Amino acid sequence: MRVFVTGATGFIGTAVVRELIDAGHQVLGLARSDAGAKSLVAAGAEVHRGSLEDLDSLRSGAAAADGVIHTAFIHDFSNYGPAAEADRRAIDTLGGTLAGSDRPLIITSGTLLVQRQGALATEEDAPNPNFPRKSEEAALALAARGARPSVLRLPPSVHGNGDHGFVPRLIGIAQEKGVSAYIGDGLNRWPAVHRLDAAHLYRLVLEKGTAGASYHGVADEGVPTREIAAAIGRGLNVPVVSKSREEAADHFGWLAHFFGVDAPASSAQTRERLGWRPVQPGVIADLNAEHYFEHAADAVPLHS
Ligand SMILES: NC(=O)c1ccc[n+]([C@@H]2O[C@H](COP(=O)([O-])OP(=O)(O)OC[C@H]3O[C@@H](n4cnc5c(N)ncnc54)[C@H](OP(=O)(O)O)[C@@H]3O)[C@@H](O)[C@H]2O)c1
Repeated sequence: MRVFVTGATGFIGTAVVRELIDAGHQVLGLARSDAGAKSLVAAGAEVHRGSLEDLDSLRSGAAAADGVIHTAFIHDFSNYGPAAEADRRAIDTLGGTLAGSDRPLIITSGTLLVQRQGALATEEDAPNPNFPRKSEEAALALAARGARPSVLRLPPSVHGNGDHGFVPRLIGIAQEKGVSAYIGDGLNRWPAVHRLDAAHLYRLVLEKGTAGASYHGVADEGVPTREIAAAIGRGLNVPVVSKSREEAADHFGWLAHFFGVDAPASSAQTRERLGWRPVQPGVIADLNAEHYFEHAADAVPLHS
C-alpha cells in the first residue's frame, strides 16, 4: 500500500515509517522542515511537504494514498487546547478525504484518556469526555460519513532509544533534585510499550484492523511507578524516596498528575484480534539498558 504518515519524523512515526517500508509498503511522509524531509528521504520514504495547520496539505497527502496513519501532534502542554483542536481538525480533514472509499485511517490516542483509576482499561472503554483531546471522537464521527477509521491507543510510556517523553522527564527531575521519587506507596501503575512494538501494531491495524475499532498498544499492563523510580535511581545512582501527594506537586510539577494515576490497561482484545505479540524489552528492562542515562544531563521537560 502507499501510506500517508503524519508525524513521520517523530519518535513513534520514524519507527512506523521503517516498519512499513520493511514490510514492502510505500510511505509518503508529512514533513514541515527541510531537516524532516531529508530524514524521510534517507529512510526511503517519499516526502509530502505540509503541516497540521495547512489542511490542503493533509487533503492532498491523503488523496494520494491507499491509507493514512496519523501520529503528528503538537506537544505543547502549555497550550493544549489549540493543539487538541488542530488534531481534531486534521483528523476531520484526513477522514473527510478518505470518506466513501475503503481506505483506512488509523489515528493515535492514549490509554490515559480511558483510564478509570485502578480498573484495567480495555479497548471497549470510551474516552473520558472531559479530556480536551478529541482524537477518538473526531475519528469515530467519520464512520458516519463513510470513512474507515480505527483508533490506536498508546500508553503513557512509549519507550526506546530516542524517547523524549515522560520517562526522560522523570530522569531529568531525579537528576535535578538528587532523588528519584514516587508518589505515596508507589503502587499506582503505568502501562508501557516499546516504540518498535507500537510501530508493528500500527502496521497490523493498517493491514487487518476493523473500521470503528479501538486497539491498545500495551505491552506492560501496569508497572508500579515505584519500580520505574527505582530503575531511575539505579541508573543515576541517587536515592529512591516516596513523596506525599502534597509534596509531589512541588517535586514533579505538572507531571505529578500523570505520575500519580493508577492507569493499568489491557491489550488482550488487540492481541486476540490482530495476533500482535510485543517482543521488545519492557520499560524496566529498557531503563536498565544504558541508553536512557547516557545523555541524562540533557534530559529536559517534555516539550517545555
Ligand atoms: N511518546 C509517547 O510516550 C506517547 C505516549 C502516548 C501517546 N503518544 C502519542 O503518539 C503520537 C506520536 O508521538 P511521538 O512521541 O512520536 O511525538 P513526537 O516525537 O513529538 O513527534 C511529533 C510529530 O508530529 C509532528 N508535528 C508536530 N507539530 C506539527 C505540525 N504543526 N504540523 C505537522 N507536523 C507536526 C512532528 O514534526 P517535526 O519532526 O517537524 O517536529 C513529529 O513528526 C502523538 O499523538 C502522541 O501524543 C505518544
